[in-house]
Amino acid sequence: MQIPQDLIETAALKLKSVQSEAEFFQLRAQYLGKKSFVVTAFSKLRDLQSDKKVNVAKELNILKNNLTKLFETSIEDIEGKSDHKKLDVSLPADPFLVGSEHPITKISQKIINYFTLLNYQIFSGNEIETDFYNFEALNFPENHPARQMHDTFYLNSSSKTEYLLRTHTSNTQVHAMLNEDLPLYMLSPGRVFRCDSDTTHLPMFTQIEGLVVDEDVTFGDLKGVLIDFLEDFFNEKMEVRFRPSYFPFTEPSAEVDIKFGKQGWLEILGCGMVHPNVLNGCNIDTKKFRGFAFGMGVERLAMLYYGVTDIREFYSSNLDFLNQFPS
Ligand code: DAH
Repeated sequence: MQIPQDLIETAALKLKSVQSEAEFFQLRAQYLGKKSFVVTAFSKLRDLQSDKKVNVAKELNILKNNLTKLFETSIEDIEGKSDHKKLDVSLPADPFLVGSEHPITKISQKIINYFTLLNYQIFSGNEIETDFYNFEALNFPENHPARQMHDTFYLNSSSKTEYLLRTHTSNTQVHAMLNEDLPLYMLSPGRVFRCDSDTTHLPMFTQIEGLVVDEDVTFGDLKGVLIDFLEDFFNEKMEVRFRPSYFPFTEPSAEVDIKFGKQGWLEILGCGMVHPNVLNGCNIDTKKFRGFAFGMGVERLAMLYYGVTDIREFYSSNLDFLNQFPS
């Protein structure tokens, strides 16, 4: 068997003109692959006489080792030439976008944190609701004029029950009073829907409802809780005004205004003592228990807190706007 003496030199020469990793591996297969001279020569060793066999095997091993080394040292040059640049782990990482909580989520959470410290339980309630929970059980009888203030979205339904999108989070009060043990201290944040849209109104917005049912609950307790909450929220002493108002589910009812810088008095939430019709409808003994309730619009509080003037900004998905509220 003749071992070509120039095998290493020709391989080295061909390696110099290699331009890509693909060409490199092709060439390596030619010199060290299954059909290469070295590998086929090894398989032919068995045909040789044993005295020759030892010497040829020695030579073949040296040749194979030299070829392997040659290809190993050349791979680095090829990698430098190829399209794939070597990974430089010392380079600084590319900047990437980190999301943050939506301002409405932040404000909702701030309100929830205040009330959970007072041991209020959180209920999320149903967004799709029946007339009973959204209106009737809250003392809005059929054809009651206050229903018209709510611009309700009714859902087509094939069943007998008519479904609607809740117009306020007060629906959760009824579920809680019917299902939970007393005394009850609850807070219900969530989305509500009304057929209305301009710079200060949205068809979908967020409310937070609060309800307390306990023995000896007074309007004074309600005032105390709300004034303390508002001062905690804005982190300053506030001028707060309770203005008589009307809601079918509370009697007496009030709207709460705060004095806000140059803007003067601003309406911030509705509240009142739970109407006895509502308590009776939920099988609560009105001789023993009384309740107070309040409801606030989260977007409105967020607008005041952050100085936002157009409510639609919150839902425009405009990153320039949203980036102003990093985590
Ligand atoms: N549900 C009322 C609304 O959407 C807000 C409200 C007013 C809730 C008075 C209350 C309340 O619990 O006592 O306009």
